[in-house]
Amino acid sequence: MNLEHLRVDIGRLMDRIDDLAELGAIGGNGVCRLALTPEDKAGRDRVLDWMRALGLSIRIDGMGNVVGVRPGRTPGPPVMTGSHIDTVRTGGRYDGNLGVLAGLEVIQVLDEAGIETEHPLAVAFFTNEEGARFAPDMMGSLVFVGGMDLDVAHEVVGIDGRRVGECLTEIGYLGEAACGQYPVRCFVELHVEQGPVLEAESITIGAVERVQGISWSEYTIRGFSNHAGTTPMRLRKDAGYAAAAVACEVRRLAARMGGDQVGTVGALNLKPNLVNVVPNEAVLTVDFRNTDEALLRAAEAQLSAFLDTLSAQEGVEISSRRLARFEPVPFHETVIAGVERTARDLGYSVRRMPSGAGHDAQMLARICPAGMIFVPSAGGISHNVKEYTSPDDIEAGANVLLHMLTELAEA
Ligand code: GLV
Ligand code: MN
Ligand code: MN
Repeated sequence: MNLEHLRVDIGRLMDRIDDLAELGAIGGNGVCRLALTPEDKAGRDRVLDWMRALGLSIRIDGMGNVVGVRPGRTPGPPVMTGSHIDTVRTGGRYDGNLGVLAGLEVIQVLDEAGIETEHPLAVAFFTNEEGARFAPDMMGSLVFVGGMDLDVAHEVVGIDGRRVGECLTEIGYLGEAACGQYPVRCFVELHVEQGPVLEAESITIGAVERVQGISWSEYTIRGFSNHAGTTPMRLRKDAGYAAAAVACEVRRLAARMGGDQVGTVGALNLKPNLVNVVPNEAVLTVDFRNTDEALLRAAEAQLSAFLDTLSAQEGVEISSRRLARFEPVPFHETVIAGVERTARDLGYSVRRMPSGAGHDAQMLARICPAGMIFVPSAGGISHNVKEYTSPDDIEAGANVLLHMLTELAEA
């Protein structure tokens, strides 16, 4: 059969994106669907309805990961696509959701064209990719590939004190299927770039070569509360000051290292958080990323040395907890080259590029050939309600996904 003219229905795909974005909608076109909340449940239920309507056989595992499978002529491991539908608290409507819904669109196009593939095709969405409520990020896909024990994941406590396991039960997504042993033939994820590169270069498709390494830590700084008016500066053990010093150092360190090094203090809580009291406790997070593992380690070591000095100088105690640590992940050359070739064949401009964000595909890369397709993000904005990708670019990305999956499922 000649598949050259096969194309996605962009109207239908945009309708599903907009429909899903209604669940957990927040002002400014954004979405707040933190993992395992009632909003996440509503989103999951909606996607499952669509999967069922497409006749996919559905598998839900003990981590709440959902896989919908369309059989092939030959039974066996599926060619898989997918992503996540959880969002950060201030999320947009494309991050993750696009990859899942484009997968459903691909299935529907094949169904309507009456095309059966040699190997099965699967669309998955993985629990808690964002890590915004429960660390680490990509937790669902990590457990899916056997990189974290299910029991350990269930015990993870979120920013609101709730546990993963109890929340999964509460929303009815603690499934029965086993984790860590589902064979996958290969994995391709469509995602918005979330950065400025494609737009700046007027390129439609990114063939993602690798994902940078991620290091997340939480620091608790303990000082001593005292009166803001009467305590001489030299006698203070100010946890708030120390936290601010860490934030400044993270920024200076990234500037000093240059290259791909980035560093962020994204969460900071002070106690007692009052205008006239020297803070006795600060809890803050540091997010470091680099495409080079040795440089990422150097950043961690430099911050650690800074914390030792700071602790001695200010008389504060600093303890740390690792929230996430993933080395840089290269994608499979066959998939990268496949994205490039498919994009060119369809008439889209394409370039190879790294990913600055973490993705489920980097976990799937542990068990099968994996790769990603990026489409431009307006202004490079993401993890913000202003996240936007044009329907034309979404259509292009989904068409690349359609042709990649169809080809891989026939190969
Ligand atoms: C997760 O998606 C991240 O990159 O922060
Ligand atoms: Mn994402
Ligand atoms: Mn994200």
